[in-house]
Amino acid sequence: MEISSLLQPHDEINRDSAVLALGVHQGRVSRPLTVCEPMCGSGVRGTRLALEVSGVERIVMGDMNPRAVRLATENARLNGVSGRVAVRLMEANLLLSIHSKPLSRFDYVDVDPYGSPAPYLDGAIRACKRDGLVALTATDMAPLCGVNPRACLRKYGGRSLRTGYCHESALRLVAGALVIRAAVHEVSARPVFSFAADHYVRLYMELERGKRKADGRLTEIGYIQHCFKCLNRRAVSKREILNSNLCGHCGSQMEAAGPMWLGELAEGEFCDEMLTYSERSAISSNRRLVRIIQMVRDEIGFPQGFYGVDKLCSKLKIPSRATGDVISAIESAGFRAVRTHIDERGLKTDVPLGELERMLMSVEAVG
Ligand SMILES: C[S@@+](CC[C@H](N)C(=O)[O-])C[C@H]1O[C@@H](n2cnc3c(N)ncnc32)[C@H](O)[C@@H]1O
Repeated sequence: MEISSLLQPHDEINRDSAVLALGVHQGRVSRPLTVCEPMCGSGVRGTRLALEVSGVERIVMGDMNPRAVRLATENARLNGVSGRVAVRLMEANLLLSIHSKPLSRFDYVDVDPYGSPAPYLDGAIRACKRDGLVALTATDMAPLCGVNPRACLRKYGGRSLRTGYCHESALRLVAGALVIRAAVHEVSARPVFSFAADHYVRLYMELERGKRKADGRLTEIGYIQHCFKCLNRRAVSKREILNSNLCGHCGSQMEAAGPMWLGELAEGEFCDEMLTYSERSAISSNRRLVRIIQMVRDEIGFPQGFYGVDKLCSKLKIPSRATGDVISAIESAGFRAVRTHIDERGLKTDVPLGELERMLMSVEAVG
């Protein structure tokens, strides 16, 4: 493997978000932290966590690739953190299994593979403390975005659809898979921060011990029915899906994606704490990440999915409208709307589709 592919400079947003999320988690649990990065590559992430997050006491990194292990070991040494870092030449699930006994568990487990994190979900939960934080990256966007729905069902236990908001559904499918796996261990999991960027999705899931809490999270698992004819969508439970698959807007048959997580994809307080933490570090200069965190926070409380303004306009056979103008029209009518961090021409809103269409018609065309 090329060293350049181990370094992955485009992962800066991903790694910066890890520093912020772990920093916030440390502030919440107020104790020295142990960290596991079972697929560490060059070790940049683990080394940065050791250097940039106060209270990180010990980091165990692992990788199956001997070159990665050598590089990660050297990286830790050059940065003066060798004393707190151990690098293992080991398969990720084996490393996680070794640390699944209660006293060997970590405060933070960061699963950052090429492709799907699905094979490591169980190991990550078992190796994470019951009030710990699990971070997941998924780069297998073809399965998650409906291009290869069979692979999605196989890996995540849910069906994906090729919709305009498929990257949000991707976050929900990965979150849902972790919530369901955590429940097996009588652990509740919920996203405290998550985002989609470039060609991956990234989630930070806080764990909590308890059968009842795990049961509660399972009630937030469901489906999104989507109408490919008029772009209408609705979030439904399994029972509701059996009752009807007819679109309430145009009467066509809807398709269903899921089961997936229908709850919030972030917690407002966690996002605010990440922003505060970023101001105390050099990460505040990562304007793109700061903007993503702000937008993710603003998306909280909105219905699942978002509308692409261009797609809606083209369906209505009208020229495109400016996203800002559409949002103003929605707000003037007493509804709520925000831009989504996933698509610069996308908006989340609580307006029913029929009204949204009427508003789009009334807004002036761009240009
Ligand atoms: C995306 S890279 C990790 C990048 C790293 N987390 C970072 O931030 O720089 C994925 C790494 O996982 C390793 N890997 C793949 N499958 C593995 C497995 N089953 N067990 C351990 N390591 C694995 C690869 O060798 C590669 O170094």
